[in-house]
Amino acid sequence: MTLAGKTVALAVTGSVAAYKAVEVARLCIKAGAKVIPLLTASGSRFVGAITLAGITGESVATDMWDPAYPGEMHVAIAARADVLAIVPATADVLARLAQGRADDLVTATAMCMRGPVLVAPAMHPNMWTHPATQENVAKLAAQGRVTLVGPVSGLVASGDVGMGRMSEPAAIADAITRALVPRDLEKRHVVVTAGPTHEALDPVRFLGNKSSGRMGFAIAAAAAARGARVTLIAGPVSLDTPPSVTRVDVESAEQMQRALDDALGADLSKADALVMAAAVADYRPSSPSATKLKKDGGELPAVTLAKNPDLLAGIGARRKGARPVLIGFALETGDDTAVVAYAKKKLDAKKVDVVVANAAHESLGKATNRIAFVSREGATPFVESSKPDLANRLLDRVAASLPKLPPEVRGR
Ligand code: CTP
Repeated sequence: MTLAGKTVALAVTGSVAAYKAVEVARLCIKAGAKVIPLLTASGSRFVGAITLAGITGESVATDMWDPAYPGEMHVAIAARADVLAIVPATADVLARLAQGRADDLVTATAMCMRGPVLVAPAMHPNMWTHPATQENVAKLAAQGRVTLVGPVSGLVASGDVGMGRMSEPAAIADAITRALVPRDLEKRHVVVTAGPTHEALDPVRFLGNKSSGRMGFAIAAAAAARGARVTLIAGPVSLDTPPSVTRVDVESAEQMQRALDDALGADLSKADALVMAAAVADYRPSSPSATKLKKDGGELPAVTLAKNPDLLAGIGARRKGARPVLIGFALETGDDTAVVAYAKKKLDAKKVDVVVANAAHESLGKATNRIAFVSREGATPFVESSKPDLANRLLDRVAASLPKLPPEVRGR
């Protein structure tokens, strides 16, 4: 997850769960955000301003009437923040937000926000299930200006169990990140391939490669977070399926070809973009054994190979027009100039829009990568970052090159 360059206003109100807001601040900072802490008078009974200031490195905004503050505090904070997260949010805060009151710093800032406002309710189950709270929650949902994170069912401070426990800090930090993701791939179908292919020698052995699938999975996750319908065609990898992604598991290049035909349709009309991050084997054993090969046959076994079809080149050759946007990968060895030169060759040979150039020693099995985008306009400089961040940079290019949706689809 990344919040690089983002500013999060984190408002802490009066509930026992307030101590968990400190962890939310820490997670946001770890993800690259600047955090502006806001603390209500009752919030300060549960967590100290010194703790919040120490964790965030910012002064804690507590009193909107502070004469030393230059300008109007709530307006200035709302203008600086990309997102406001109220963690925890009490029943009282929910009521005041629902009524549109602005009688303290937190509610006044919430009313001034143009970016997303997230609230993480925390209260005793009797307060959460009270009809007044439920009415306020329904009102907030209808207004569409505030997103609720939780609460969840579980143990609350009193020792009772029920709905009202605040969501865990990781889930809140994750929701903050997701709230800032552009939904620019809504109503688009993005197909992603990932991982290696295994080409069978016999029922238990195969030829394969070292691809972990992490880059492709990061792209699938990021595309889904940006609103796309995602089909992830995965070679044999041990990675969890990202949320809201349809996964099709395959073993060999031939199976990947069939899965691609299903996902794209014969005329390629079923997808808006294809990102071929898979390390598809170029060759397969020409006559795999139906039974396990035995070593006691005397002679050393010789493996003869057959060429696999180039899946991406086949799709590039069949494509008419700009759709689907085609992205290939070039995983190479050599210096930056050599890696980019190989990528340029693939761009032309496979008739794709962008080739992601990367060096094997900087990518394979790692959480980070260093890549350059090679297109007909030339090559970008190399950027080193986490795979999720690079996935979003790639999707920025995909989103920019997608033809505009026709009005009847846009409105759907
Ligand atoms: N690719 C494919 N089908 C194949 C092989 C590769 O679709 N049979 C795709 C990969 O998913 C990737 C790109 O093509 O997007 C990689 O190009 P490729 O020419 O296969 O790379 P290498 O095999 O590493 O290239 P070379 O052997 O030419 O160095």
